[in-house]
Amino acid sequence: MSDKCAVVIDLKFERREVDQALADAFKGRQVLHASDKGADLSQARYAVLWKPDADLFQRAPRLDVLFSGGAGVDSVLSLPGLPEIPIVRFVDHTLTTRMSEWVVLQCLAHLRQVPAYLKQQRESHWRELPQPQASEVTVGVMGLGVLGRDAAEKLKIMGFEVIGWSRSRKALEGIDTYDTGGLDDFLGRTDILVGLLPLTPQTRGMFDAALFGRLRKGGRLGGPVFINAGRGGSQVETDVVAALQGGTLAGASLDVFEREPLDRASPLWRMENVLITPHAASASDVRALFRNAEQQIERHEAGDPLQHVVDRSAGY
Ligand SMILES: NC(=O)c1ccc[n+]([C@@H]2O[C@H](COP(=O)([O-])OP(=O)(O)OC[C@H]3O[C@@H](n4cnc5c(N)ncnc54)[C@H](OP(=O)(O)O)[C@@H]3O)[C@@H](O)[C@H]2O)c1
Repeated sequence: MSDKCAVVIDLKFERREVDQALADAFKGRQVLHASDKGADLSQARYAVLWKPDADLFQRAPRLDVLFSGGAGVDSVLSLPGLPEIPIVRFVDHTLTTRMSEWVVLQCLAHLRQVPAYLKQQRESHWRELPQPQASEVTVGVMGLGVLGRDAAEKLKIMGFEVIGWSRSRKALEGIDTYDTGGLDDFLGRTDILVGLLPLTPQTRGMFDAALFGRLRKGGRLGGPVFINAGRGGSQVETDVVAALQGGTLAGASLDVFEREPLDRASPLWRMENVLITPHAASASDVRALFRNAEQQIERHEAGDPLQHVVDRSAGY
């Protein structure tokens, strides 16, 4: 058996995908599966986890580092018995690229009136709709972290006017940025609001009626559009529905929800100006996840600092 410290895998991902990815990962290192209830995890030093079993930390009391299977760590931070050890979140170009594809797709869909054209198509109705230019529409990105920043830069390339908002102000070329004190000014300029925030006590319930009411009125899309791929807990869904019904919002694209899967009874499913995806904006690529964890373990064992360590006091 290898003398390299063991890693335990506790991912509620497709098992076949995990096994295929493991064929090339953690060479020379013992890999244990938490799903194997007979496995002895007592000496494991690393865990790669997503929605782990409740008894993981009891079975694996000697862990040094946790690797989150996703970029968002709100669910990891709320795990019962979570040990006080570094948590590394998943940051990788595969995840970033996928998220930017989704965000650009949704912004373009609303700019080019895809929901209205889909309705017309179902009705065999031939009618050309107005075509505003991307440059006439301001996209406001809330959260300028790894994902928000890349999405903002790609939206800029597509010709949108782009502005951004984050806890600490960022410097991005060609993009006006705001910090938390500038929220009103930021919202007042925003036609399409893109949420790419982590779920923390500060961001929970942030996307509510009051916030939607502060978005720019009279823009080229006929009203503001709300796009969220951060976390569903940041949106007040009853307020989203009411804002869409009352015209405060002209449309929405939602990938995340307060409760997932989204209840079949939710009116959001049936709203013509709403595009829904099932928390699929940017799925973690398991190969990339293991490659990342492996590289970070090597850094850690060589005495180098871990990267993308979660700041527990900030909650992300
Ligand atoms: N739907 C999906 O498929 C999917 C996939 C991956 C990730 N996600 C979600 O996307 C989120 C963002 O990922 P990321 O990698 O970009 O995270 P990140 O690099 O940690 O960036 C988070 C950003 O949010 C800002 N922020 C946090 N709290 C704030 C607050 N109270 N007020 C203002 N700004 C605040 C941060 O500000 P500072 O820059 O000042 O710190 C930062 O700019 C994840 O947490 C996850 O929930 C969703």
